Amino acid sequence: MNKTAIIYSFNTKKTGKVAALIQEAYSKDVIEIVNAEELTEELFLSFDHIIMGVATWFDGELPNFWDEFVPALEELDLTGKKIALFGLGDQKGYPENFLDGVGIMGEILEAQGAALVGFTSSEGYEFESSRALRNDQFMGLAIDYENQGSMNTERVAAWVEQLKKEFA
Ligand SMILES: Cc1cc2nc3c(=O)[nH]c(=O)nc-3n(C[C@H](O)[C@H](O)[C@H](O)COP(=O)(O)O)c2cc1C
Repeated sequence: MNKTAIIYSFNTKKTGKVAALIQEAYSKDVIEIVNAEELTEELFLSFDHIIMGVATWFDGELPNFWDEFVPALEELDLTGKKIALFGLGDQKGYPENFLDGVGIMGEILEAQGAALVGFTSSEGYEFESSRALRNDQFMGLAIDYENQGSMNTERVAAWVEQLKKEFA
């Protein structure tokens, strides 16, 4: 059976809440939860399907703990791995860099051979630019706790249904 993980930093509150929603919407017994701050290359490679929580910090950058794992990621062969990204961002506060972290991480993973899944429509969001956009779609799930928090549960539920198909 395929092994699926949700990887996020246990020190991030909002990302952690979204991870819990994803875990609830998924069947709990097929998901492993991993702390990004204790991640090793070996553990990363042990999963067939990976859901990564990547917020955007510092005006369009990755959170520190992901940034620190990038050199390790750039040494890995991720051919055949299906990876889905969920990102947190603030479209009103940072309209020029909305969700950039997802784009940065997505590009790194693809360069290592990973197949990204879980792209979503950018309709219903208002921002100026985002590195996470590809052909009008986000390269993952876009969660905006600050401005559209009431949509989180609905967005996660639809995304998890999509993932169940795309991870199959
Ligand atoms: C200092 C700071 C910088 C931020 N920069 C961005 C940004 O460039 N783009 C964006 O979309 N969101 C940005 N955000 C919003 C966060 O991504 C958002 O608050 C998110 O929910 C944080 O999740 P976390 O607390 O789980 O890390 C920033 C937030 C802070 C506090």
